[in-house]
Amino acid sequence: MCSELVLYYYFYISLLLFVVGGTIDITVHEILEEGALKELHKASGNNLGGQNVDRKFKEFLREIFCDGIWDEYEQNYPSEVQRMMNDFTVFKKRDKDIEVTCSLNLGKVAQKKQDIEHFLEKVQGVSYDEGSIRISKQKLRSFFEDSLWGITKSLRQILSKDFKIKYILLVGGFAESEILRIHITEEFIDNCKVLCPFRPQEVILKGAVEFGTQPHLVASRKSAFTYGVGVAERFNESIHKAEKKFTNKEGTFCDDIFMTLVKADEDVGWNETRRHILNPLESDQTRVNFTFYQTKKQKVTYVDEGGIEKIGSFVVQSPNITHGKKREIELQIKFGFTEMTATGTDKDTGLKQTIELDFMRI
Ligand SMILES: *[C@@H]1O[C@H](CO)[C@@H](O)[C@H](O)[C@H]1NC(C)=O
Ligand SMILES: *[C@@H]1O[C@H](CO)[C@@H](O)[C@H](O)[C@H]1NC(C)=O
Ligand SMILES: *[C@@H]1O[C@H](CO)[C@@H](O)[C@H](O)[C@H]1NC(C)=O
Ligand SMILES: *[C@@H]1O[C@H](CO)[C@@H](O)[C@H](O)[C@H]1NC(C)=O
Repeated sequence: MCSELVLYYYFYISLLLFVVGGTIDITVHEILEEGALKELHKASGNNLGGQNVDRKFKEFLREIFCDGIWDEYEQNYPSEVQRMMNDFTVFKKRDKDIEVTCSLNLGKVAQKKQDIEHFLEKVQGVSYDEGSIRISKQKLRSFFEDSLWGITKSLRQILSKDFKIKYILLVGGFAESEILRIHITEEFIDNCKVLCPFRPQEVILKGAVEFGTQPHLVASRKSAFTYGVGVAERFNESIHKAEKKFTNKEGTFCDDIFMTLVKADEDVGWNETRRHILNPLESDQTRVNFTFYQTKKQKVTYVDEGGIEKIGSFVVQSPNITHGKKREIELQIKFGFTEMTATGTDKDTGLKQTIELDFMRI
């Protein structure tokens, strides 16, 4: 059975795996420090996955094209019905009005009773528009109702079981649906954080293979964003923008350079730690400010380009200025499961600052 939806729950060290295919399977795992998973709980559920949404849509068409019209059409043109369903599968990922193309053959079959637009006249949330059935966003949502209700109920049951759940991670094909994502996020916002990785379907395929063969190797994932920290560099006319130039007693510098820590789509290991050594800008400064940014872009030069978001900052104290500009501040980035931790350490004094940054998109 192909899994359409997997919800991982993270609660400090444990995780719950929640699978919706034809059926819903719920599995609770403990995540061990080195990334291995230990199963704690398993439950099998109902058939309220994405296929149920498709089924609702088909029932709806049967209701509209009543008196056997739909059945006749389906019997005579099964491949056309399949195409309509495939279109619907794509459209249902979005939370907006959709348009499903009707073939001439459906028009012909309908004509035996009345013109196709007459079938749609009395139905709320639906209209006929030059060969297409327009379905309103509200109507589309109504096809999800049973699924959302069933999934929510299953999740509530798990939440009531005294796990300290910190995150829900939505992956799998059905997780691509905005309606589902919005619903789960709104429903559980007070209980935990709902995260959805970049390509939910791929994650499950990859995850399933890796879980099955080498569970301890579910060890790396792709970063959804490019992360960086703002720094200044010695000004170089041939590469830097003139308006970023500034001068202090140490010389001429270029401000607001985006120093990349992780690139979007880059593989990041479970426990991986990266280190960078930075120096203070001025020989007598006693505080060093670090500001962190994220962006979808692969290549970034300055922190104030479009599409870059500031995600946090801290100040590292460096009170002993004996070594002046040669002082080393170590910036250590450690990747956890859904977060990364940045730590700045003044090497001379050992003074530190730490910040936790989300490492998965919501
Ligand atoms: C992860 O980090 C912990 C502690 O820092 C270490 O003991 C463990 O071996 C690391 N695991 C991997 C897979 O690197
Ligand atoms: C300025 O940048 C250019 C191009 O990268 C490089 O060739 C040159 O050596 C740099 N100049 C200085 C003073 O670093
Ligand atoms: C650090 O710099 C950023 C960006 O310039 C600024 O927004 C932030 O307030 C600074 N933090 C401190 C504590 O000075
Ligand atoms: C500052 O650092 C220097 C060199 O490491 C050391 O000799 C000195 O004792 C330090 N000063 C203080 C106040 O800790």
